[in-house]
Amino acid sequence: MPSAYEQALTKVASGTSPEVAAAELVAQMTLDEKVHCLDGGVPFWIGIGDITSGGYHSRPFRGARVERLGIPGFHFSDGPRGVVVGEATAFPVSMARGATFDPELEVRVGDAIGKELRAIGADLYGGICVNLLRHPAWGRAQETYGEDPHHVGEMGAGLTRGAQRHVMATLKHFALNSMENARFGIDVSIDERSLHEVYLPHFKRIIDEGIACVMTAYNSVNGEWCGENTELISDILRGEWGFTGFVISDWIFGLRDGVKSLQAGLDVEMPYRMIRNAPIVSALSEGLISEELVGSAVTRTLTTMLKFNVGKLPVSDRSIVMCEEHLALSQEVAEKSMVLLKNQSVAGANVLPLNLAAGSTIGVFGRLAGVRNIGDGGSSDVMAPNVVTPLQGITDHFANCKVVHDADATIDTQVALAKQSDIAIVIVGYTKEEEGEFIGDSEDTAPMLSLIPRQDDQELAREYEKYMHENHHYAPDELRIKSRNGTFSIGGDRESLRLMEVDVQLIRSISQVQPRTIVVIIAGSAVVMSEWINEVPAVLMGWYSGSNGGRALANVLSGSVNPSGRLPFVIPHDESHLPFFDRNAKAITYDYWHGQWKLDRDGNTAMFPFGFGHSYTSFEYSDVSVESGEVVKVQCSVRNTGTRNGASVVQVFAGCNESVIERPLRRLVAFKRIEVAAGETVRVECEFALSKIATRDTTSHGWFVEGGTWTCEVGQFSGDPQALSALLQVPEIIQL
Ligand code: BGC
Repeated sequence: MPSAYEQALTKVASGTSPEVAAAELVAQMTLDEKVHCLDGGVPFWIGIGDITSGGYHSRPFRGARVERLGIPGFHFSDGPRGVVVGEATAFPVSMARGATFDPELEVRVGDAIGKELRAIGADLYGGICVNLLRHPAWGRAQETYGEDPHHVGEMGAGLTRGAQRHVMATLKHFALNSMENARFGIDVSIDERSLHEVYLPHFKRIIDEGIACVMTAYNSVNGEWCGENTELISDILRGEWGFTGFVISDWIFGLRDGVKSLQAGLDVEMPYRMIRNAPIVSALSEGLISEELVGSAVTRTLTTMLKFNVGKLPVSDRSIVMCEEHLALSQEVAEKSMVLLKNQSVAGANVLPLNLAAGSTIGVFGRLAGVRNIGDGGSSDVMAPNVVTPLQGITDHFANCKVVHDADATIDTQVALAKQSDIAIVIVGYTKEEEGEFIGDSEDTAPMLSLIPRQDDQELAREYEKYMHENHHYAPDELRIKSRNGTFSIGGDRESLRLMEVDVQLIRSISQVQPRTIVVIIAGSAVVMSEWINEVPAVLMGWYSGSNGGRALANVLSGSVNPSGRLPFVIPHDESHLPFFDRNAKAITYDYWHGQWKLDRDGNTAMFPFGFGHSYTSFEYSDVSVESGEVVKVQCSVRNTGTRNGASVVQVFAGCNESVIERPLRRLVAFKRIEVAAGETVRVECEFALSKIATRDTTSHGWFVEGGTWTCEVGQFSGDPQALSALLQVPEIIQL
């Protein structure tokens, strides 16, 4: 006999709306069963014991399961750079993927991650992190795609599209979560225009893509914790944007007032039965809230599960995990993500690509050359074995050369090695200890400890023990159990935007004796380089580049791959050109200005602007045309004027001439990465909806497009002096 849930699935397959089928299912549930679905349903103490002893990387988090009715629950595994349960393919971090400016590639990444998720029993992916990079010191910068709302939205939509071919996906962290150390305590104040025009458009883009689930953020916005924020969850997300999926809290400390969180529209507290259960049970018994309120939350969760066929999703064979195709994709992404920031000529020839005769000596230097360094050591950490380090990649690729490396040698010895070498490659930057998720002791969460139940429900505990027993995925201990509290590394917001003194000293000493010194930076966001960059001829942004990153690096250095990554953020000459950032702040105001927009407004030139990156070939843009309409079409021709095939990222920026409203000088509205063979010309069309240049009307809370003459600039980066311009006339104000 099929269970009630199976019957609901069958009905949905034969045309009943998932909402109706879910409501019928909820009608069969007891009040206890409904309340059980309002949190992960896993008792806190057994859950916390599991997570802190490596369980995080051993099994998905389960929620909303009701055995009596056959409701299987959902099974969450984190992201964004791959599956975090068991061994898995590590993709380059999202920020690196942002640098590809290639949403279709991101669809393929999502597709691969989705397939790997189905091999460990997960059906809810936690990897669509699109908080805007307001400041590069943010410890989790690497988990998002960059500083620009349009670009971040398109990349996140790509990942969602790919992943949701196989599983449901979660959009996070809603909203304004772009500081790490203070995340549990900080209040972010923001005005309506900045909220809707800067910090939310990319979330809306991904809601429109049809994402299943939204995770709220830890911080508060305008005085209300995000997990209890009616304006964000009910008014904006569900009301204004029409989101019909379910909303979950961020983990463990994601809300404080259980009843309020339910009233605000949050459906599931994750991952345990923790803060909301007791107050909700007593509010129900006192008649302060209705059973219908509980029922609507559960209905939203079940509607989404039924819509996505949860419980009957195909299971992937284990052999899909880290298969050749996924490792090759990870490498392709890494190759397309690396950004060549500087490439000067030494003795008449550009330093890169490397042009080395057989038998040449390559000196590889730096603390990070030979270590496994694939990013954050918090919730996004992927247990990838056999990571190809930069040193390994270079050694394998240049098999006919001699590679010298001795990370432990004194600086004098390293300098001597550099002197004897034909070229020096210095690999510097950060690791998960300097930037990443921060799981430190926090005074901000201490008051919440009193909200945790004193003991576990024994029956639920037994059920979870069974789940643990039946769901254990192997990940090597040396990767799974790491520093400090047994599971996660320290991470947090960066203390400085510069390289460490030891790295700078190494670069300086080596470049003094070796004119062909190439610096490769491993980091998750901008690094300020002004104190040393003039001393070296070549700099490459290498990112945390995944399972095969070292191989990708060698291919880019050698020229087997022509670099095509572009910066998804600005790199300033000086920290003072960026917005205010205090990693210990208790309150902060976010205004309209950050990144390239702020530099433009303040008249500061960038060291490397948003969208910038060199290639081993060159491109020339010509014949721009703009066709206006509700969707504006922009065309131009791109000629590869060099002798190598390559890829250019066509970037369209719009600005309003003589605007009466304060707005960015230019704002990205469309982009397209295109491959152009040497000597060839390709006609490119980009389009953007007029809503991309709309202004929030803070009186009606609607949108309008300012009338007047707008300029569309089509260039290779923001502020490109070679950019082509075309005018776009908007005869009068358009209300949207
Ligand atoms: C992080 C989320 C993550 C969750 C589950 C939290 O600490 O903020 O991004 O999805 O843990 O791992």
